[in-house]
Parts: sequence; C-alpha cells; structure tokens
Amino acid sequence: MEIFHISAECYPVAKVGGLADVVGALPKYQSNWGHELRVVMPCYQTKFRSENDLECVHWGTVKLGGFNFPFSVLKETTDKLGFELYLIEIPELFDRKEVYGYEDDIERFMSFQIAVLDWVIGRATMPDVINCHDHHTGLIPFMMQHCYKYHQLSNTPSMITIHNGLYQGQFSFDKLNYFPEFDLTHVRLLEWDSQINSLAVAVKCASAVTTVSPSYLDEINYSANGLESLFNLVRYKSRGILNGIDTQVWDPAQDKMLEKNYSIQNLEKGKQQNKEVLCTLFNLDPTKPLFSFIGRLLDEKGGDLLPQASALAMSENYKEINILILGSGSRQIENQLNSLLSDYKGNYNTFIGYNEELAHLIYAGADFLMMPSRVEPCGLNQMYSLRYGTIPIVRRTGGLKDTVVDFGDDGNGICHDQSSVGDICYSIQRAVSLYDNKEHLNKIRKIGMSTDHSWEKASQEYIEMYNLILNKI
Ligand code: GLC
Repeated sequence: MEIFHISAECYPVAKVGGLADVVGALPKYQSNWGHELRVVMPCYQTKFRSENDLECVHWGTVKLGGFNFPFSVLKETTDKLGFELYLIEIPELFDRKEVYGYEDDIERFMSFQIAVLDWVIGRATMPDVINCHDHHTGLIPFMMQHCYKYHQLSNTPSMITIHNGLYQGQFSFDKLNYFPEFDLTHVRLLEWDSQINSLAVAVKCASAVTTVSPSYLDEINYSANGLESLFNLVRYKSRGILNGIDTQVWDPAQDKMLEKNYSIQNLEKGKQQNKEVLCTLFNLDPTKPLFSFIGRLLDEKGGDLLPQASALAMSENYKEINILILGSGSRQIENQLNSLLSDYKGNYNTFIGYNEELAHLIYAGADFLMMPSRVEPCGLNQMYSLRYGTIPIVRRTGGLKDTVVDFGDDGNGICHDQSSVGDICYSIQRAVSLYDNKEHLNKIRKIGMSTDHSWEKASQEYIEMYNLILNKI
C-alpha cells in the first residue's frame, strides 16, 4: 500500500525531539515489508536542505483566509533514507532556522497542511492511508473529510499518532476563515473547550488513534491536559503501539560517533574507553560512576528536579559520582544547573544545547541515564541507553513503564514511582551500590543490551492498524 506520513519533524532532516527519530525510522522499516512510503514535512532552513539535491515536483499557492503563500514541493532524489521524502517549501513561513516557537506557528502549520492536501489531490492516484503525527498535522483528517476541494480524499483512511498529548495546537475561532470551504454543519468537530483544538480535531476525525506506548494510552484517559473525556470516547478506535528504535543508527558496534565501538562481548572495555574520552572532554573522573541526563530541560521531563537532586546526590556522595547533563529548555533550569558548576568542579558538568554526536558518546560512555519524567508518552532515550549498555534510571510512567523493569525484579534498569528529588536520590544510591558490584552491574547491562527494541515488530503493528481502517481485516 501507499502510505503517507505527515510530520513537522523527521531525522535526519530536522529534529527537535523523539518525533523526528520515529518519523525517520518507522517508514524505513515499513518499506521493508514491501509498502511505498512517503514522508512529507515542511522545508526549514536546515543543513539537510542546503546539502541535498532536491527536485521540484509541484508548485502552487496556499490560500489562508486573506493571505496567499506560494509553495513548492521538493523531492529528495536519492534512495538513502529508505523512503521518499517530500519537503513543502513555503518560503515566507518556513525559511527559518527553528522548527517551532514562532508567533505565527498556527499560520505556518495550517498553511503546511493545506499545501500538503492541495498537492496530494493533484497526484495521479490517492494514497491508501495518511498517518498524521501530533497536533501540527491534526487538521488534515478533518479537511480530508469535510473541505469540498479535497473530496477525492473523503474516503481515504487517516490515522493520528500521538507522541505528546500535552501540546494540542489550540487557536481561536477568529481564524475559522483559514479553512478551505467546508459544510458548516460540521463545525463542532473543530471545537474543544470553546477553541479550535488541532489535536482534538484529529482524535475526533481520524479513522484510528495511536499513542506511542500502551501505558500512555491508559494514562491519557485520566490525564491529558483537558482531553481525557475525548480519549475515553474514542477508546474503541485507539491502540498503544510501543515505539522502536532505529537499530542501524543506534548500534554501539558500528556507531561512527563513538571513540570505540563495542558489543556485548567486549562491553566493559568498550564502554570504559568511551567514558574516558567523555570524562576528559568534560573534566570528570573516569574511575567514578557517571550519571547522565539527555533531553529537554522541562518540568514534563522532570528537568526541574535535576538541579536539587544533583546537588543532593553529589553532596551525599561527593567525589563518589560524576554527573553530566546534556540538554536545553527552560532558562531557569539551565541557570540552576549551571550554578552548580563551581561547587562540584571535576565531578559535574553541563552542555546546554543539543548535539547529536555528543548524545551518542554519552550513551556509550555513561554508566547510568536518568529519566525522571513526569510524563513520557514513550521515551526513546531509555531504549538507546539499554542498547549501549547504559542502565536507565526511570520514573515508572508511560513508555518508561513499558520498557524498563527494575533490576530487583530481574529487570534491565532502576525504577522509582514518584517525580521527586527523594526518589531520584534513592535510585542514585542504589545505582552506586550496583556499580560497586561489577559482576552484577555487567549482568544488568547485558540484559539491557540483549533486549530487542527494533522497529521490526512495531512497524507491523502500524500496518495491521492501517489494514483495520482499510477494512481489510
Ligand atoms: C515525544 C514524547 C516522547 C516520545 C517521542 C517519540 O517526544 O515526549 O516520549 O518518545 O515523542 O514518539
């Protein structure tokens, strides 16, 4: 079948978070099953854009209320990604460095969605399935069914995959005129809590809803930033499918970003060599356990707990542990983390920002990866760390609950229940004791490394879902 994935991010083109990793990997694995995969995303001002040959396959003008935005559809011409990639270039709205965070984000992503559909209906054949990802593409299922000009797509099934239900793309009904003309008797489909809510629209209109882990699907029934009752209503068409990881990109035996490649056979030595480089780079002590955090410094990820938890763990275990933080997000959290630098020199460091290469080196060189998330729809970092023999320390929530089992229960990691400084520190204490028992430590590392988190199985589950909405099963 011909499957379209519509997304705001896709690795290696543009990445802010895990969404990009999923959209860069899932289609590749789906095409291995013999399907035709297309990924469609906005054309930002990225390195990928300037370094790749792109062919213009379509152009037109998006009409957004009273505005007109010329656009073109650029196709990546090599086979290197494992799927066909199309970039929607709307220079006025997307020729910018950042993916999100502009005042006109509503106009940007609404224009993107209209441009996608304008282009798709002009193609010779209609796709079999359209898989939208998160709220930036959430109006598509509605427009396909109800906007007159997209009537050819009114019977095409669509699926919304929710990577993070906290963000919903709400805007005022003042912008109702942005929609291409539709039968106004359907206007209620756009509404949630007196606003147009892009995610709610997708959940109502899509033929199927998936979340990125089974536990997250359960959680959004009672905690979903106002959409709980809606998720309850659509349970009949919902499924939680646990994300996989791209085991070609994330392979300690092949990863070019590491100092030393290793596998389960030589993991201790391999990890130590990467750790030494990392410790030299960040002025840390390679003889002590290295705890790390990689990700966005937000409350949602438990980022606000990190400064206090790090300070407490270091004062209790001072000179016994190292902590290295890689991430960016809230200014306040960034500043609090940096304010610890002078007190714990030689055992603590931060890298504020994002750096893909450094992330790989940390997965290889760290001993433990902390994920104290309050909300974690799936989480990929714990899977990367397991694959690199780094033991995850997680709060039991969402996808973390589905992938990490405490070593006390013969599992692959360390788990706690509360989003609290106390729980994080208690887990750090347990990790320090584990680190002192090398035999046990290596046993747990090996359990993690041998867990299969590839997309093989999950990519099939997506296809099953498409077949279901195509009435094929
Ligand atoms: C979002 C979620 C994260 C998930 C990722 C990919 O970033 O916060 O939990 O792993 O999407 O689905």
